[in-house]
Amino acid sequence: MSETKSAANDPDLTRLVDDLLTWRRNVRHFQRRPIAELEMERLFALAQCAPSVGNAQPWRFIRVRDKGLRAALADHVDEAARNAGLCYEGERATRYASLKLHGLREAPEILAVYCDEAPSAGQGLGRATMPETLRYSTVLAIHTLWLAAQSRGIGLGWISIVEPGRISAMLAAPPQWHFVALICLGYADAPSSLPELERRGWQARLDWRDNISER
Ligand SMILES: Cc1cc2nc3c(=O)[nH]c(=O)nc-3n(C[C@H](O)[C@H](O)[C@H](O)COP(=O)(O)O)c2cc1C
Repeated sequence: MSETKSAANDPDLTRLVDDLLTWRRNVRHFQRRPIAELEMERLFALAQCAPSVGNAQPWRFIRVRDKGLRAALADHVDEAARNAGLCYEGERATRYASLKLHGLREAPEILAVYCDEAPSAGQGLGRATMPETLRYSTVLAIHTLWLAAQSRGIGLGWISIVEPGRISAMLAAPPQWHFVALICLGYADAPSSLPELERRGWQARLDWRDNISER
C-alpha cells in the first residue's frame, strides 16, 4: 500500500464506511466454518493499525486453540451469566434468561484481549496523567478488528461477562497484562441493521441527540 495515498473525500468510500458502520453487529450466532489463516493474519495486521497512546500498541491477543480451554471458558461465561441474571426479576428475568450472550462453543476463533500495562513501545508518551489511555487504545484495536472483520463478512462477538482473574489464570496471562475482553470471530448466521438486543426487546438504540450536550 502506498504511504501517500489519501482516503479523503471519496463518496464511494463514504457510502461503504456508512454501510459498514450501520451493518456492524455484535455476533453471537456463528457458523462453524473456519476462517482462513491468511484472513486471520490480515485481521491482526489491520488491528495493528489502530490508534494508540504514544503509538504504544499495548493490545495483546491470546488465540485460544485448545479445545479444553475453550470449553472451560464457555462454562465459566455460562456460570457468570447465570449469576449476573440473579439481579433481574419478573419479566426482565425471563427475557434475560432467553438471551444468547456468547458464541464460545461454535465460533471458529476465540481471542482473549489484554492490555499490556507497561509496554516498552511508546516510551510512556501521552499517558503520564492518564495511564488508562493504554486500555482505551486496546479497545480501539478491538474496534478496528471488528470493522475489518465485518467488511469481510466475518462477525465479532464481544464477551465481558467473566471474572477476569479466573480467565487470566486459565490462560496463564502475564501479571502486567490487564484483561479487556473475550472475543469470538466467525461467519455470522444472518446480517441485520439492528442490534440483537433491540430486536429481542432488551434495549433499543437511543436517539443520538440525547447523548450530546453543549456548554
Ligand atoms: C464493552 C462491551 C462489552 C460487551 N459484552 C457483551 C457480552 O458479554 N455479551 C454479549 O452478548 N454482548 C456483549 N457486548 C455487545 C453489546 O451487547 C452490543 O454491542 C450492543 O448490544 C449493540 O449491538 P451491536 O453491537 O450489534 O450494534 C458488549 C459490547 C461491548 C462494547
